[in-house]
Amino acid sequence: MSVKTLSPGQTTASRGAAAMSRKIRRVGVLTGGGDCPGLNAVIRAVTKSALNCYNLEIVGIEEGFLGLVQNRMRPLNNAAVSNILTQGGTILGTNNRCNPRAYVAPGTSEKRDVMDRCMEHIQAQGLDALIVIGGDGTMSVAAHFVRLGVNCIGVPKTIDNDLMGTDITFGFATAVQIATEALDRVHTTAASHHRVMVVEVMGRNAGWIALAAGVAGGADVILIPEIPYDLEKVCDFVLERQRRGKKSSIVCVSEGATPVGGKQVVSRVDPTSPDPIRLGGVGPVLAAQIEQGTGIETRATILGHIQRGGTPVAADRILGTQFGNAAAHLLMTGAEGRLVVMQKGEIRDVELISAEGKQRLVTPDTPLIRAARDVETCFGD
Ligand code: F6P
Repeated sequence: MSVKTLSPGQTTASRGAAAMSRKIRRVGVLTGGGDCPGLNAVIRAVTKSALNCYNLEIVGIEEGFLGLVQNRMRPLNNAAVSNILTQGGTILGTNNRCNPRAYVAPGTSEKRDVMDRCMEHIQAQGLDALIVIGGDGTMSVAAHFVRLGVNCIGVPKTIDNDLMGTDITFGFATAVQIATEALDRVHTTAASHHRVMVVEVMGRNAGWIALAAGVAGGADVILIPEIPYDLEKVCDFVLERQRRGKKSSIVCVSEGATPVGGKQVVSRVDPTSPDPIRLGGVGPVLAAQIEQGTGIETRATILGHIQRGGTPVAADRILGTQFGNAAAHLLMTGAEGRLVVMQKGEIRDVELISAEGKQRLVTPDTPLIRAARDVETCFGD
């Protein structure tokens, strides 16, 4: 994977000159996949930076790639992105079903490749490049446009923090904050009733949210997809705590966590989606098993979309602004098919196609795992 550090040494004038030579005048922006706190911060930063530094025309593409398929676009200007920094969701709308290579038209079930139609719309709208804000599914679709010669600059979004190439995605900090607050709140019920309280968090196949929120919220047990758990070990740990006088325990379980040799709990299957499996429901299953295995009353709470909704925390507003600003500058410094990333505290860029079809998972040597184990957190292994 080739990595470049953005060099902001260039002046605005020289960047503008570079852009003129590549004739970048009109740029489409879309948000793809699930909504995520900080999307509007990115849209705002892209639009304002592109307008103020380069006098570009910015076109908002509605509902992710669906807007490209259906030619639904609208101009964005300073007024359109005013007062959106603190808003959750995305002013452009989003979509986690539309893959133009396997598009299912409303009222039909047949999958059709409509990439040609999208290319026609890109041309008809006079778009010289796209800024694509999304997670791995969105980048996988964007990679096909890159192969067709469309200049796409990616911006890494997802509460799951699982996009390959970047140390962090915007949206993650907010999800962790919300999950941490939820864990903080169940502590009181756990302690008052001497219960085990299980909190299920999102994250798909990655345990980043559970790990970070579990550590921040003082979970006694953290279960993540990357470390299959042994139910007996979890129950023994809870019972041992009880023997030592700790009458309550908190379990933070990632929606993708599995018992050793077991399967993920699926909440629904959406055949029209490029990623049809929706996880969810492991929390109540696990709670029933812990109650049976320990004899201690155990309750479950599923946080679900609460983790994705509402106002982004400051860190996501800042990261979204940095990413959006970097995407605009990157485009105008001649980059093509790149993904803006954060690596070791620096904004850099990598090849967009390098993020295609991959997930960045928690590894056993992740320093936070060691820290958590050292403060007596059980991972069920
Ligand atoms: O990728 C973000 C995410 O919230 C995952 O954590 C979760 O598994 C999934 O999206 C849920 O998708 P949907 O909003 O379609 O139910």
